[in-house]
Amino acid sequence: MNRNAPASAAWELLLPAVSAPARTRGRALQTALREAVRSGRLAPGTRLPSSRDLAADLGVSRGLVTQAYEQLTAEGYLRSGQGAGTWVGAAVRSARPRARDLAPRLPGARADFVPGTPDLSLFPRSAWAAAQRGVLAELPHQELGYPDPRGLPRLRTALAELLARRRGVVADPERIVVVSGVAQATTLLGFALHARGVRTVGVEDPGSPQHDALYASAGVTVVPLPVDGEGITLEPLRASGVRAVVTTPAHQFPTGIAYSARRRADLLDWARDVDGIVLEDDYDGDFRYDRAPVGALQGLDPDHVAYTGSVSKSLAPGLRLGWLLVPESWAEEIIERKRTMDLGHPALDQALFACFLERGDYDRQLRRCQRAYRDRRDALTTALTEHFPGSEVSGIAAGLHVIATLPERYGPEERFLEHVTTAGVAVRPLSAYAHTRAGTADGKKTRLVLGYAHVPPARIHEGIRLMAEAATG
Ligand SMILES: Cc1ncc(COP(=O)(O)O)c(C=O)c1O
Repeated sequence: MNRNAPASAAWELLLPAVSAPARTRGRALQTALREAVRSGRLAPGTRLPSSRDLAADLGVSRGLVTQAYEQLTAEGYLRSGQGAGTWVGAAVRSARPRARDLAPRLPGARADFVPGTPDLSLFPRSAWAAAQRGVLAELPHQELGYPDPRGLPRLRTALAELLARRRGVVADPERIVVVSGVAQATTLLGFALHARGVRTVGVEDPGSPQHDALYASAGVTVVPLPVDGEGITLEPLRASGVRAVVTTPAHQFPTGIAYSARRRADLLDWARDVDGIVLEDDYDGDFRYDRAPVGALQGLDPDHVAYTGSVSKSLAPGLRLGWLLVPESWAEEIIERKRTMDLGHPALDQALFACFLERGDYDRQLRRCQRAYRDRRDALTTALTEHFPGSEVSGIAAGLHVIATLPERYGPEERFLEHVTTAGVAVRPLSAYAHTRAGTADGKKTRLVLGYAHVPPARIHEGIRLMAEAATG
């Protein structure tokens, strides 16, 4: 078997298909293989075993495997070359990928620059354990009952202080809702919009695929609106007729720009003009490396902005903990939705996080991550200069990712991705986050969204070197 193929255990995902009745076995094998490629379990560039090897592994006739390879090659899921074997095609997903398509990383990758994850090894285990012990010792019994659907008053007070101090949010503890991340905040907002008869919401293009799927689950369709160097563009926004728009003003995801002061003002003017609402996703607003972070948009007009953030970038996404602040006129509806959704966020987790905030542990964690991520961003830009001369890094010095535009000589995106994924380097092109090609496409150049926060500096350098070698080799 080729060295790039997953270990034979990986082919176990095809085993249920081969136990189908003989009559339907061939079709079942094709379906299972197609699904494995679509879902990303077999990543682009993965070499498939020879038909002889796979047939032997699965205990089926070689003809059945050959047929499956031929069929999927004809459909574009697989590619093959004279004497070069068969591999998973690089551009299987021509449509915009759904959030779950973006989730899987390259299994066993030699280098992983997929954006979105903080360094989970920086999770402050001892401070967390100390807060947990304190909470368990002190928490009054009655606080283990059903919590206020908005969240424990103690946590909402601590969050109001944090968000006002660090992000310039107008934070009334009475209007904070503790949620299980930006994802739940988005779903709540989606339901509230739907209940008000709103069926469309503007989203940034390129933007986070997470928003699309979540609004869709609430019956609200997204309308992509182009992003330029200052933020979401106003003309298309006005022309679209939407009255709600999702934005990431502190550090646009994924382009990495910060909304200009003028665009922020124009956006709020628009919201006032149409009696609409701006949904502000402040997913990584704490991390800025060249200056103090720009305050939240919500602080400028709390009546027209719903603000949300979470600990997913600062502590760990697995905690499922975040916050949502809505304009007063939306509060009752959102709180009621939260109540009917899950009767409130887990009380113990809330008390623990309140204690963690009160002890100053969260500020310490943010400072520690800020130092680590700034160093990693520097390491990444240095490695790009060294190994991809002529490449350009764009976006502000902030957050957990950069955009790198590679010079033309590294070829068009599809070929570049094929080479690097085959070499075991996991990366996402900017185009994976685009609804339309507008704004991301440059037919000749590859533009990558490179996540660095989860990669130690030495591995950043090595990974970029490996990527350059694969791209040019
Ligand atoms: C743009 C954006 N918003 C929000 C989040 C975080 O969502 P959550 O708080 O539900 O983990 C992510 C995570 O990757 C993201 O990319």
